[in-house]
Amino acid sequence: MSYVPADTLGRPLRDLRISVTDRCNFRCTYCMPKEVFGRDYAFLERSELLTFEEIERVARVFVGLGVRKLRLTGGEPLLRRDVEELVARLARLGDIDLAMTTNGSALRAKAPALAAAGLRRVTVSLDSLDDEVFGAMNDVNFPVARVLEGIEAAAAAGLPVKINTVVQRGVNDAGVVDMARFFKGTGHVVRFIEYMDVGASNGWRMEDVVPAAEIVAAIDARMPLEPIEPAYPGEVARRYRYRDGSGEIGVIASVTRPFCRSCTRARLSAEGKLYTCLFAARGHDLRALLRAGASDDELTGAIAGIWERRGDRYSELRSAATTGMPKVEMSYIGG
Ligand code: GTP
Ligand code: 5AD
Ligand code: SF4
Ligand code: SF4
Repeated sequence: MSYVPADTLGRPLRDLRISVTDRCNFRCTYCMPKEVFGRDYAFLERSELLTFEEIERVARVFVGLGVRKLRLTGGEPLLRRDVEELVARLARLGDIDLAMTTNGSALRAKAPALAAAGLRRVTVSLDSLDDEVFGAMNDVNFPVARVLEGIEAAAAAGLPVKINTVVQRGVNDAGVVDMARFFKGTGHVVRFIEYMDVGASNGWRMEDVVPAAEIVAAIDARMPLEPIEPAYPGEVARRYRYRDGSGEIGVIASVTRPFCRSCTRARLSAEGKLYTCLFAARGHDLRALLRAGASDDELTGAIAGIWERRGDRYSELRSAATTGMPKVEMSYIGG
């Protein structure tokens, strides 16, 4: 294979996270709080979004530069009409780990088509099993049962499932052990995520973070755990398996144990801006290049150049000063 660029810290480019829409039908308080993303919020117009042809073309260039994992995100990716057509296009790019992160609300309807189109696995966000807590967190009173139906539909369609649970002190931390217990033995892997200071709208405070070590200790005290090796180099989650052999959990400790050193992820916004960090203030406009008629070689050169200049390691530098800095919103870049 051809040339694989490395950034200024020696990190190769391995994953591309593709946001297909900045819209979502949830208003999770830690991601799209209603006060900011309410009625008047200026979401992207359809003409601003990359078309499926454009996304496919960009993805093909990234695969040529060494990317081996593509993840579709949003907002909520299942709100993008006919997203399974995009899945089918991306599935034809080669032997690529093709995944999606979704809130699960439309998964019951969409899972069979996604699996048939070539999606390899799915990650479903679910913060609580308690309707009152979950409803308050998604802030549209979306019921737990509907997400669980989505998870079941995905599994029935043959898609391996992971569950993402963002943990906030005093909000859903009391349900962490229940969440682990509920999915123990199902084959689905729950990952508990430390609440992060993404974007500028969620009013993040360090006191709201429940350290991953505390989460692991709480589960281990009831259902003994032991650490296991990462499934692949640079895995974001740290893995633990139940000592009784009934499965595993993960924790994503991006606040207390940042993993920038092995970060090989690039992010493409729905309007075609390339971000080299989840916490970047600005992106690089690939759509302008595409629509100006750039050749594949020109796109390849531009992307390789952006990656080679990259020195991002926000989570390692996180401090009082960085928390207030301008950043892109999580719902725009897809987590
Ligand atoms: P796997 O491919 O299954 O290992 O999943 P993943 O962990 O790469 O993807 P997922 O979308 O499930 O990521 C889970 C969460 O981890 C994200 O939603 C973010 O909250 C956090 N996360 C993922 N990548 C990064 C990153 O590069 N930096 C930071 N700070 N957090 C990240
Ligand atoms: N901190 C941590 N994780 C977050 N997510 C969204 N906002 C935050 C935040 N502030 C997670 C969602 C979803 C993924 C895309 O990102 O729960 O699982
Ligand atoms: Fe929507 Fe996911 Fe953000 Fe919740 S975390 S508002 S489901 S994009
Ligand atoms: Fe990568 Fe930026 Fe996250 Fe660090 S903070 S792991 S550099 S995306």
